[in-house]
Amino acid sequence: MIERPKSTSSSYIILSLLLSISCITATSPSQLRSVQYFLPYCSYLSVNLSSSNIATLRSLVQIRHYLQKRVRDLTDLIYNNEHPPTDPVVIHTFKTKRTIPELKADFDISTQNLTKIDDESEAVISQLRATHHLPHNATFSYVSHCLSSRLEPALYHGRPKVSFLLQYFKRPQMIDSFVTKLAGSMKKLGVAAELVVNVDNVEESQQWAELSYSTNGFVVPVLSNNVHEARAYNRIAGLARGQLLILLQDDMHPPEDDVWVQHLLQLFSKYPELGAVGMMAYRYCIPTHSNSYHNSLYFHDKELGIKAQFVAAADFAPLAVRKTVFEEVGGLDEGLSEEGVCGIFGDWDLVTRMWLSGWQVMYMDVDGLQVDSTSSGGTHKPETGDRCWLRQAKSAGTLFNSRFGSIHLDICEHVQQLNLKLLQVLNPAAPCPYTSCTLTAGA
Ligand SMILES: *[C@@H]1O[C@H](CO)[C@@H](O)[C@H](O)[C@H]1NC(C)=O
Ligand SMILES: *[C@@H]1O[C@H](CO)[C@@H](O)[C@H](O)[C@H]1NC(C)=O
Ligand SMILES: *[C@@H]1O[C@H](CO)[C@@H](O)[C@H](O)[C@H]1NC(C)=O
Repeated sequence: MIERPKSTSSSYIILSLLLSISCITATSPSQLRSVQYFLPYCSYLSVNLSSSNIATLRSLVQIRHYLQKRVRDLTDLIYNNEHPPTDPVVIHTFKTKRTIPELKADFDISTQNLTKIDDESEAVISQLRATHHLPHNATFSYVSHCLSSRLEPALYHGRPKVSFLLQYFKRPQMIDSFVTKLAGSMKKLGVAAELVVNVDNVEESQQWAELSYSTNGFVVPVLSNNVHEARAYNRIAGLARGQLLILLQDDMHPPEDDVWVQHLLQLFSKYPELGAVGMMAYRYCIPTHSNSYHNSLYFHDKELGIKAQFVAAADFAPLAVRKTVFEEVGGLDEGLSEEGVCGIFGDWDLVTRMWLSGWQVMYMDVDGLQVDSTSSGGTHKPETGDRCWLRQAKSAGTLFNSRFGSIHLDICEHVQQLNLKLLQVLNPAAPCPYTSCTLTAGA
């Protein structure tokens, strides 16, 4: 139940707080962007072009510019290595470890790709002209000049696709095998990745700096002074450059193989509205079910051959999230716990906000996750455990319950329908986890 403010002075404080917040949002740039195209020359683009057409055209333009740049540089490199200059400055300028045949092969592929992109852009542009989505006289240059107001960061060279986010606190014995496993499996998978680590005990900074060096920058350490998980993940999520964030904890070792990351990428690509995938524990429904763990799924995605199903709640960790969705819903709630205090309820709170914002949440079975049993994590030690699982659980739980209350039941209904409509039964011998496992009429 929401209590009414007791005195006028406290409601005055709340009112002025709200006003100051609305002042901030009212002046934020994203709220002022009703004018899409500043120049009248470009304004046609806001009339008839859909956002998906804009995205396609932008990517074509961006890729074409990168190829033009590459071909330009390769032309100069080939010329100056075939005709070696005498001026030491020019020699240094065009020095390369690649051989002339390698440069020429690269040149050939890049020019072929450039021609392909040229043809593709011309085809798209003339089709959009014919259907009046672009002006009758629109050219590639017109589209380039007007649509390069924004760029697609995923197309930047060498940008990681996956960012592992690790919250680390005093567990030096796990570091080597943890980092080796992740770096190895990502190399095998051939997907650009990084491991951003919040080092929550700064005194180990030297060791992490050395790891950044020895892994050629795969490890990106961030030094914090015991901020604990909510603030740690928000800080490193902001720093991460991948589109997919995989939140990890230092007491759970990732599998040796790369299959789990491959499966995550497949799920996020097949389900465009998927916001998060948990891999540790889940609930079909927060108020009516209890926690379920590995090897307990009733549904799966038969087409992909992946053991995953929609769930109302998923726990840390690992927990994979789409970066844009994590940001859109406000990340983890730092108001749920003070600095240095455990983030209990933070995971359920995050995924519940995703459901309420129209995103989906899944749980996926991962083989080979290993709990590090060499020492129990900070929040599981007897002297600190009650502080988290008892005291913090009560206060954060109070907030969580009044924030969402009975709306969980609506989410559960929606999750059930998604499972029945989009997935297949994995284990018909198991009892149906719902009152009924048949679709309701008209759903
Ligand atoms: C050329 O295109 C192929 C196929 O799309 C791609 O795999 C390759 O990376 C591209 N190479 C360059 C240099 O653009
Ligand atoms: C937008 O497209 C429609 C057809 O889909 C066309 O009739 C209309 O003239 C176009 N608008 C402009 C400003 O060209
Ligand atoms: C297209 O033609 C219109 C006049 O019909 C002119 O105002 C506009 O600048 C032209 N646009 C381009 C891209 O040439």
